[in-house]
Amino acid sequence: MAVFALQTIFSKAIFLFLITIPLSKAILSPHYYDQTCPQTEGIILQTVHNATVHDLKVPARILRMFFHDCFIRGCDASVLLDSTPGNKAEKDGPPNLSLASFYVIDDVKAKLEAACPHTVSCADILAIAARDVVAMSGGPYWDVLKGRRDGTVSKANETINLPAPSFNVTQLIQSFAKRGLGVKDLVALSGGHSLGFSHCSSFEARLRNFSPLGNTDPSINAEFAENLRKKCLEPNKDRNAGQFLDSTSSIFDNDYYKRVIAGKGVFGSDQALYGDYRTRWIVESFAKDESLFFREFAASMVRLGNVGVSEDGEVRVKCRVVN
Ligand code: HEM
Ligand SMILES: *[C@@H]1O[C@H](CO)[C@@H](O)[C@H](O)[C@H]1NC(C)=O
Ligand SMILES: *[C@@H]1O[C@H](CO)[C@@H](O)[C@H](O)[C@H]1NC(C)=O
Ligand SMILES: *[C@@H]1O[C@H](CO)[C@@H](O)[C@H](O)[C@H]1NC(C)=O
Ligand SMILES: *[C@@H]1O[C@H](CO)[C@@H](O)[C@H](O)[C@H]1NC(C)=O
Repeated sequence: MAVFALQTIFSKAIFLFLITIPLSKAILSPHYYDQTCPQTEGIILQTVHNATVHDLKVPARILRMFFHDCFIRGCDASVLLDSTPGNKAEKDGPPNLSLASFYVIDDVKAKLEAACPHTVSCADILAIAARDVVAMSGGPYWDVLKGRRDGTVSKANETINLPAPSFNVTQLIQSFAKRGLGVKDLVALSGGHSLGFSHCSSFEARLRNFSPLGNTDPSINAEFAENLRKKCLEPNKDRNAGQFLDSTSSIFDNDYYKRVIAGKGVFGSDQALYGDYRTRWIVESFAKDESLFFREFAASMVRLGNVGVSEDGEVRVKCRVVN
């Protein structure tokens, strides 16, 4: 009798294990396409590399695209879907100015569909491409886990859930915690701002009417603030005007953290990392030790790539439309 009861409990446990685990969380693997499409990573690297040779803005754009994808509905390529007559998609939501270079992912997908039809998800393409652009720019390399599925929903209004450049550390920590990411992930991944550019509109509020005490955010280095003011506040400024996020904006390095320490973080959210005891020590340690930053960035990118991953969804044939 006791043996029987034990067996029942045991088989129930196995049964529960079978029905709950696989449905709730997909198991990603570095070997996911080893049998079904061994060319996957080679095709992605070659295509992204070629695109970068023709346009140096590609790496920053792909890296940011991956971050936006994972923060909205998990890493499911929802950021790649185009709007349809009945639905305004994420890429047409408000903080979309720097989302560009979608054609690179389309090119990769076309080549992968020719090589191994209906096999490699758009979400995995983006995760691998994001690793490649970092490595290609002089940053770390890591093994990308694969097996993500492509979602079928993309809503412009959900981009409201992305962290804003005006966020303080409490708000940033909360935003990352909602995705299962910690304080160290926040500081390490903010190092993505080692690449790329920002339009004035994303940081202008730091330069005028900042607070009742003064027009300019006091955490900005004075000379840097003057520079930004010249670029952004002159009367006839170009709407494409802006600032590189780092002095070596196409090289992935730890210069971003040194700049933040010097009061030259472009966004309030960058500068805030140095103004708060919870994150300041991490900024300092990354500024001092680039190889530490590289290791932590790689580990945090793997965690970012796990956000919201599930077995639901499909492998899209074209990354811009659901099947
Ligand atoms: C911590 C919260 C974050 C905030 C508030 C934030 C905000 C922003 C903003 C406002 C821009 C400029 C958009 C424009 O005006 O063109 C930007 C650019 C960028 N972000 Fe972030 N970001 C954050 C985290 C990240 C993360 C985690 C990554 C990647 C790991 C990332 C990668 C980038 C890159 C590469 C660019 C430059 C894009 C380009 O040059 O086209 N950001 N970010
Ligand atoms: C390389 O990139 C350029 C610019 O995007 C494109 O016109 C060309 O077809 C690409 N070549 C290959 C071999 O993918
Ligand atoms: C991006 O955002 C701007 C301003 O919110 C909006 O006018 C535009 O339609 C959006 N979409 C694209 C693809 O630029
Ligand atoms: C976005 O709009 C949909 C309706 O189209 C609504 O159900 C959803 O709650 C909205 N989400 C947010 C974050 O506002
Ligand atoms: C961060 O911003 C929120 C919302 O504006 C505010 O309520 C909170 O007091 C701020 N926290 C800190 C530590 O500045």
